[in-house]
Amino acid sequence: MAEELLIPVNADRKAVYNALFPQIKALIADESDLIANLSNITAALKEAFGFFWVGFYLVKEGQLVLGPFQGPIACTRIPFHKGVCGASYTRKETIVVPDVEAFPGHIACSSASKSEIVLPVFHRNGTVAMVLDVDSDELDDFSAADSEGLEQIIKLIERKL
Ligand code: SME
Repeated sequence: MAEELLIPVNADRKAVYNALFPQIKALIADESDLIANLSNITAALKEAFGFFWVGFYLVKEGQLVLGPFQGPIACTRIPFHKGVCGASYTRKETIVVPDVEAFPGHIACSSASKSEIVLPVFHRNGTVAMVLDVDSDELDDFSAADSEGLEQIIKLIERKL
């Protein structure tokens, strides 16, 4: 396993995702432990993009429970019907929120979080295994480059579930 990530400087986000994808693929290729892989993925995303918060909420005990993350401490349990994470779980789709204050039911783990993107990660049988939540301290920070880039990374996780 490589010991450090190679991140292009002064590159746009799409270029960074393109550079990151094969490195994440290699990083998790020979490791079967889910928590170890999710941990490294959050670290890689945090390091590559400097996002305010990056983490997984795992489906456990009928709710979403905090898993590996990078960033400030966060809410530990989210009911399926609450917040952007709950909406992504329930609708089974990626949700981009340009302004969290305008999203009804948004859960503010930190007042510094201004926009976010949440993506579901699926088991082979189509049920949601977890969600990936990425928060930014800037308004309107996420675009198609993020949803496409993160969806590719999620596919790597899904193959190992
Ligand atoms: N904002 C999320 C909750 C998780 S934290 O932001 C880390 C939500 O509304 O689901």
